[in-house]
Amino acid sequence: MTNAWPNGRAFDFIGGTPGSALISQLTDQLKALGEQLETALAAAHDLAALEELRVRFLGRSGQVTAVRRGIGNLPAGERPEAGKTINEAVSALERSLAEREAELQGRALAAQLDVAIDVTFPAPPARSGSLHPLRRATEDACAYFERRGFAVVLGDEIETEYYNFDALNIPPDHPAREGLDSFYFPNGLLLRTHTSPMQIRTMQAHPPPIAIVVPGKSYRRDSMDARHSPMFHQIEGLMVAAGIHMGHLKGMLTGMCRAVFGPAQAVRFRPSFFPFTEPSAEVDTTCPGCAGSGALGDGANCKTCSGAGWIEIGGAGMVHPDVLRESGYDPDAVSGWAFGVGIERIAMVRQEVDDIRVLFENDPRVLEQLA
Ligand code: DAH
Repeated sequence: MTNAWPNGRAFDFIGGTPGSALISQLTDQLKALGEQLETALAAAHDLAALEELRVRFLGRSGQVTAVRRGIGNLPAGERPEAGKTINEAVSALERSLAEREAELQGRALAAQLDVAIDVTFPAPPARSGSLHPLRRATEDACAYFERRGFAVVLGDEIETEYYNFDALNIPPDHPAREGLDSFYFPNGLLLRTHTSPMQIRTMQAHPPPIAIVVPGKSYRRDSMDARHSPMFHQIEGLMVAAGIHMGHLKGMLTGMCRAVFGPAQAVRFRPSFFPFTEPSAEVDTTCPGCAGSGALGDGANCKTCSGAGWIEIGGAGMVHPDVLRESGYDPDAVSGWAFGVGIERIAMVRQEVDDIRVLFENDPRVLEQLA
């Protein structure tokens, strides 16, 4: 009789061993396998080692399979019980493997958590964005007027010649209407050259009194250089009611300049011409770079205002009666002021930036520095 166990040719029972004896032999062998697995499991320290054991014991050419093959050699009557015994043993082996696996996984997780929760570890620096200087200048200027009950109105950047020019009293032979100065579309529309068209659109839509500011982009055919950009920003202001005069305009602009640059700002008007205002003025405010003195501490000329002590921020005036009439307002009943201020100018002076391109290149390092 050979009983080579567990090399695969098990239970080669010649001469007949009683069935019950064979079963108990089988049980012993399975018990031994279980013990072998327990020892091996204790020595397995990672999931790869567990997988190896699973293959060695329970795999298709593993030890249990070898035992199973031996069933064929049993008397037919013993086979069901032998099969049941083996199946139970397999379940026990599988349980042991699963238990060890859960244990190892738990330990791996605990180890990970130990490392992950180091509350003293320095956090990566938080990166936060900031508002672009042009947006801040726009918001600060608009906020001043909003506090005084003005509505903030936005207009389209594509306009008709009627709103951009005609209704604003800019005649067809005005140089601004030449294609050389404005961006025209083939259909005759154009990129608005200023925010002033919104004066007409708002007045046509709302009866007096009105008070609005219109921040937004404007476009002109200028080459990009330190002082020019084909796209730039303006804030338009318009107030129309009975009895409005130029003193109101000067007061409001002075207030806005103080809100935007600082409490010591003054505003002065220089006579000028715009087709849509009469009288018209260029608007200057105290140069914040030298507090209006024109000179720096060392006696040198202030760079911001080239020694003038004033900086120009835009144009303004009393709304022309023709413009009021075109908008459906009665110039004998109401009067109004209007202004158009350059936002780039405000931002550049505030940030001490002397090249407009800095505002449009969107270099994050520059924006961080200006934040
Ligand atoms: N629209 C003018 C420009 O872009 C600026 C301007 C001047 C606007 C006088 C006004 C104004 O509302 O009254 O050059």
